[in-house]
Order: sequence, then structure tokens, then C-alpha cells
Amino acid sequence: MEKNQPSAQPVIAAAARQLTIAIDGPAGSGKSTVARRVAEKLGCLYLDSGAMYRAVTVLAIRHKLPAGSPKLTALVQECHIKFADNGKTVLLDSEDVTTCIRTPAVNKQVADVAKIPEIRKEIVKHQQRIGAEGSIVAEGRDLTTIVFPDANFKFYLDASVTERARRRLAELRSQNVQTTLDEVEAEIRMRDEKDTSREHSPLREAEDAIVVDTTHKTIDEVVNFIVAQVQVSR
Ligand code: C5P
Repeated sequence: MEKNQPSAQPVIAAAARQLTIAIDGPAGSGKSTVARRVAEKLGCLYLDSGAMYRAVTVLAIRHKLPAGSPKLTALVQECHIKFADNGKTVLLDSEDVTTCIRTPAVNKQVADVAKIPEIRKEIVKHQQRIGAEGSIVAEGRDLTTIVFPDANFKFYLDASVTERARRRLAELRSQNVQTTLDEVEAEIRMRDEKDTSREHSPLREAEDAIVVDTTHKTIDEVVNFIVAQVQVSR
């Protein structure tokens, strides 16, 4: 299942000690669902870092600002992005934006917003503050490399692009969004390309991350694998 074994992962000496589990991977690799369930099982906070870049993209669209605009960076410095219900609800300045951060327009623009270093700097600071509050399972693109480089456990989830597109299509259809597998696959490929080739904090496998190919695995199998890794080392 895993390509890399963690080289020198710190062993959690006591259950009370703060635990940081960082999970990265491309769109549709299953990391959000997996991270949420691992957090529930281990009683940790869940952090969906992509939701924060999505909320910033909503700000850009509403204010008609291009991604690199200094005005957008200023808005990011002033705005409050918060989570409620252990990450299920996303609040932008107290407004519930859980649904509107997942629209096709946001999907299309989010990678361009997320590549701006000034925006990343603000968002990463915010994520590290959340991480300092207690034990956490955090997922995204740079959690294992930049946000929590000293995480106790690091995982990189991946899956074939067709399988990831199939998963995303099922999710969109359940929300009554009309689209095709080809359209979804094209959008995922475009986002993969932007997320892996950008200059700042590109998506990549951390050297000490355990790589899990989820293509032929159920969510439960991946969740149980991660929880077992954590419990074995505890
Ligand atoms: O995880 P999700 O697909 O919701 O993330 C949306 C986008 O936000 C990603 O495609 C990526 O461009 C950006 N992102 C990022 N760094 C993270 C999480 C997400 O750049 N840690």
C-alpha cells in the first residue's frame, strides 16, 4: 500500500500529547473524506485547508479582483475565515459559504488564487494558529511540506486521474450539478497541472510521507490504515 515508510517519525509518548496528522494529495484522492473520518475516530480537530483558498476565491469573484491584486491580499488580511461543526461548515466573515465555495466558477479559479505567495502567507499563518490549538488532522496540498513540516504523521493520498474524476462526478451529481466525466476530468487535470507546477508550495510528496494509492481502496480501508499507523506508534 505504501511506497515510503516514515524515516524518523516521532513516537507519540502519551495520548495527551498534541498530535498533528498532515495529509496531502491531488483533487479527488479522497483526502477530505478520509481526513474528516480519521479526525472523528481519533477525537482531533479537522482542518480543510482547501476550503480557505476557496473562501478567498469567493472574495475575489465577489469583488471582481484578479488573483494577483494587492486589494485581494488586503481583503484576505482583514477577513475572518472560520470553521464550525468540526470543519463541516465554512464561515467567511460569519457568512456560511459552505456551498458557494464549491461552485464550478470557484473550482476554475481557485488554483490561480492559491498560487499567489502573499495570499498563501496569510492563509498558512492562520492554519498554523489553528494547528496550535490542539490535536489536528489537516489536509491539502502543502500541509506535509510547508504548514506542518514537523507533523507527527504525514500521508500522501493519490489515485488515478480517471478514478478521481469518477469520484468527483458522483459528488457533483449528488448535488444536482449537470456535468460530464470528460469535463470533470479536464478540470482536475488543469488543477493538478497548476498545483504541481507553481513556484510557491507546489503539491509534492514529502520525503517522509507514507504514500497511499487509493484507486482500488474504499474510504474505510484508507481510514483504518491511517488510524492503525497512528495507534501502532502511540
Ligand atoms: O482541496 P481542494 O480541492 O478543495 O483545494 C482547492 C484548491 O486550493 C487546490 O486545487 C489548490 O489550488 C488550493 N490549495 C492549495 N493548498 C492547500 C489546499 C488547497 O494551494 N493546502
